[in-house]
Amino acid sequence: MEEICLLLILLLSGGLSTLPPHSREYHFVNQLMTWTEAQSYCREHFTDLVTIYNSNINQLLVSIGPRINVWAWIGLYDDRYSWKWSMEGKLFYVGSTHEFLIWANGQPDCVNAKEYCVALQGQTQMDDRPCGDSYPFLCYNAKNTSYILVMESRSWSAAQSYCRTYHTDLTSIRSKEEKSNITLTLNGSGVQYVWIGLYRDPWAFWSDNTTSTFTNWAPSDPNNYASVEYCGALNLMSGKWDDGFINYKNYAFCFTGEVQNANTVRSCHHVKH
Ligand SMILES: *[C@@H]1O[C@H](CO)[C@@H](O)[C@H](O)[C@H]1NC(C)=O
Ligand SMILES: *[C@@H]1O[C@H](CO)[C@@H](O)[C@H](O)[C@H]1NC(C)=O
Ligand SMILES: *[C@@H]1O[C@H](CO)[C@@H](O)[C@H](O)[C@H]1NC(C)=O
Ligand SMILES: *[C@@H]1O[C@H](CO)[C@@H](O)[C@H](O)[C@H]1NC(C)=O
Repeated sequence: MEEICLLLILLLSGGLSTLPPHSREYHFVNQLMTWTEAQSYCREHFTDLVTIYNSNINQLLVSIGPRINVWAWIGLYDDRYSWKWSMEGKLFYVGSTHEFLIWANGQPDCVNAKEYCVALQGQTQMDDRPCGDSYPFLCYNAKNTSYILVMESRSWSAAQSYCRTYHTDLTSIRSKEEKSNITLTLNGSGVQYVWIGLYRDPWAFWSDNTTSTFTNWAPSDPNNYASVEYCGALNLMSGKWDDGFINYKNYAFCFTGEVQNANTVRSCHHVKH
């Protein structure tokens, strides 16, 4: 196997002490692998799949790969289960232990890479929907522990503002008791979709568990084609990013260097947490 490697020294201004790291070695791996295989390969031979903090690193990666119109995996992924409640802002795992929170059949599917907010569908099951869609919404009022159904259609963030102004916030559903109170509130309202406080950040995670706000998507990406594309890849010709199915076979970019945290167990794996 052929590997091309380049050392990048980032000169940082005084105050910046953590990220991006001072120096990292970047490696192009000339072997076709699934995203998971690429992650394992990078962790075994180097440190991890690459995190791209800025356009200089992006350019550098393009320069060490062959200029062909194919893709190489990077560490970026979209986690369909990284939901947070508006009221707490903390990561909330929606797993099998929360039997009062049930996803509608096939959800969450993040259609067209546009669905990052959650509505109750048919008053009981959860569905990820485009945050800009207008639906009635459920506020929670902490002063009198009540749930208020507002029958005025608004986008998710407009609904959030309303609830924060007139009550406490968009509602959470954290227990069976809360769920049954909400079911009672919705009973007879006839609403098809109603916003609740659940939302997530798109494409927020990198394999090495560091964060970066830099993006370099191709104009029509991410598009979550066929609702299976949750892993990031870089086009070796253009340097632009594309979302890819975890089981596609692509080349890979790894890095060697210090990391802030132990390797994360979370990834774009096609599994539920
Ligand atoms: C709770 O307080 C809110 C805001 O004042 C009000 O709209 C709502 O009707 C109250 N609910 C109950 C059950 O008292
Ligand atoms: C649910 O409703 C009951 C009866 O109105 C109330 O006593 C209780 O505090 C509510 N529980 C929650 C979690 O909202
Ligand atoms: C909904 O309300 C109707 C009466 O309006 C009642 O018969 C029914 O039991 C209620 N359903 C639930 C789930 O509370
Ligand atoms: C990932 O990083 C966050 C903070 O940046 C930390 O709280 C968390 O424990 C880390 N997770 C793993 C698995 O390293």
